[in-house]
Amino acid sequence: MVENSGSIEALLQEDRTFPPPEKFRQQANIRDPRVYARARRDPEAFWAKFAEELHWFKKWDQVLDWKPPYAKWFVGGKTNICYNCVDRHLESARRNKAALVWEGEPGDWKVYTYRDLYREVCQFANGLKSLGVRKGDRVTIYLPMVPELPIAMLACARIGAAHSVVFGGFSADALRDRTNDCQAKVLITADGGYRRGSVVPLKQNADDSLNGSPSIQKVVVVRRTGHADDKMVAGRDIWWHDLVKGQPMTCPPEQMDSEDLLYILYTSGTTGKPKGIVHTTGGYMVGAYATAKWIFDLKEDDIYWCTADIGWVTGHSYIVYGPLANGATTVMYEGSPDYPDRDRFWAIVEKYAATILYTAPTAIRTFMRWGEDYPRKHDLSTLRLLGSVGEPINPEAWVWYWKNIGGGRCPVVDTWWQTETGSILISALPGITTLKPGSATQPFPGIDAEILDERGQPVGPGKGGYLVIKKPWPSMLRNIYGDPQRFVQQYWSRYPDTYFTADGAKVDEGGYYWLLGRVDDVIKVSAHRISTMEVESALVDNSKVAEAACIGKAHEMKGEAVVAFVTLKEGVAGTPAVMNELKQHVVNKIGSIARPDDIYFTAELPKTRSGKIMRRLLRDVAEGRALGDTTTLADPAVVEALKKRYGDEE
Ligand code: WTA
Repeated sequence: MVENSGSIEALLQEDRTFPPPEKFRQQANIRDPRVYARARRDPEAFWAKFAEELHWFKKWDQVLDWKPPYAKWFVGGKTNICYNCVDRHLESARRNKAALVWEGEPGDWKVYTYRDLYREVCQFANGLKSLGVRKGDRVTIYLPMVPELPIAMLACARIGAAHSVVFGGFSADALRDRTNDCQAKVLITADGGYRRGSVVPLKQNADDSLNGSPSIQKVVVVRRTGHADDKMVAGRDIWWHDLVKGQPMTCPPEQMDSEDLLYILYTSGTTGKPKGIVHTTGGYMVGAYATAKWIFDLKEDDIYWCTADIGWVTGHSYIVYGPLANGATTVMYEGSPDYPDRDRFWAIVEKYAATILYTAPTAIRTFMRWGEDYPRKHDLSTLRLLGSVGEPINPEAWVWYWKNIGGGRCPVVDTWWQTETGSILISALPGITTLKPGSATQPFPGIDAEILDERGQPVGPGKGGYLVIKKPWPSMLRNIYGDPQRFVQQYWSRYPDTYFTADGAKVDEGGYYWLLGRVDDVIKVSAHRISTMEVESALVDNSKVAEAACIGKAHEMKGEAVVAFVTLKEGVAGTPAVMNELKQHVVNKIGSIARPDDIYFTAELPKTRSGKIMRRLLRDVAEGRALGDTTTLADPAVVEALKKRYGDEE
């Protein structure tokens, strides 16, 4: 049932445990395990307590209104998340504290205090207003990891416009789909961004996307690399620096209803079409604030660095909103971990004296392969807490991280969550939880998780099943933008009034959660979320392709890699040139993150008698395993032939 069951046994043999180091425990914000019981007794009161720590123009009348699958949190409350992330900190000496520490890949860097951030956000917010952006409008942001990215998000939130950030690694086509889906009025981009020493031509991609994005009226362009000075379109494009010039340095924050739209973030699901996950204001703010505070144990003098890209949800919640709502110092890095050398991350930790580091297992595995010498060159002694996110972390990588980056003194919090959940739902509390490498440990207080079988029965300890969340939580998605039917069908139709995560999981005798991977057609490639269906649609869009089926193949570094099985049209030969053309086609349609590692050409795809492609068998072929049950196939010879041709190479 759970597809990746091959890895369960290995995980469950993991029996090393790591109690919170005494020194860490003594200073931890949360030390009393009774928080779990308190939250269980009265989850609404538990969340409301966090909400009370934030600023509301008008307090809520009701904490939760739950009419499954629709939840409203902090009903009747009026607030503004930008106000809470910026203005709230100006009342104390925090105003002069570093809010954002940014480092560019070439080595340039900037520090914004909370007061600086306030000015920049207000000026840009006024700039957006001058372009006609109003409360309720959508703004697409397609930027590299530059300070203007969080500034633009906060400015949108300030004036009540919803942002839709599109990862800078996505192609023009992918950008166009997302812009059109939400009918954005303004697009914010840059002339380029630096990645591994070269320039990513964002403005070029943006321009390509714009033939076919009629809703976009204005394009704001950040000058980062100096690569588009001659490409500005008169009347449509405006430089960021020209737009903010002379704008007033204050801008009143819009009083947003708790349930007003905050942002849309597109993510991959089980079809070829990405879905716009809808997050609203009050609940999302409380969820991001509470989890950042407790899981990252944030203190006034922390220097917190999350290495994600803001184009993904991790960056939204744990570079921008969570840390800033807490008044923390958040570090942001533009480029790649191996530029100019493989010690770049450790150089950054040392340079800014980072105390908390949050990254993905795929990065940790890469650092492991590069060897201990790179981290050893730097003083990492300021670090006190480490985090992991985005995919299951294998125990070896966990222990390596703990030892070589954390010096054996930093708890490692493995945090499970999704774009849809808005904030972390399963994680250790580092001052309380005894850690087990490879386990995300326990649901956050107030989160009611369970593992169910096909019939909706709890499976009991040690058994694999589907991870579900039984009660609403503040930062949960509210809808899929423009597609409420898909929202209901995708998340709420498997079990009554219960959120279906599409992850497999298992709880051990000690109540620890072990995540086992997706049970749908979503794969995680270097912790990036991709749908195999999306890659298939991109492939069949090529005129040489008759049919395609994609799978995620286990990959030592990336976690999973995209592998495509392709049937070409009559008369087209599967040459290396065609293979390259198809790989490039996927890059053009989606972005390089979706580029297939391998393409296997086949005369036919293995299908059931009802015509369903059996991806499970394709995975067996790609991973060199014995074929699973083939009795439901229309023609078992198809997969036998594939196995013979490709399967035995392993
Ligand atoms: C996977 C990323 C195991 C999971 C925040 C989930 C994880 C998907 C973990 C969501 C983890 C995320 N352990 N698996 N700690 N964190 N996942 O939307 O399959 O990009 O459903 O959100 O990533 O990916 P998304």
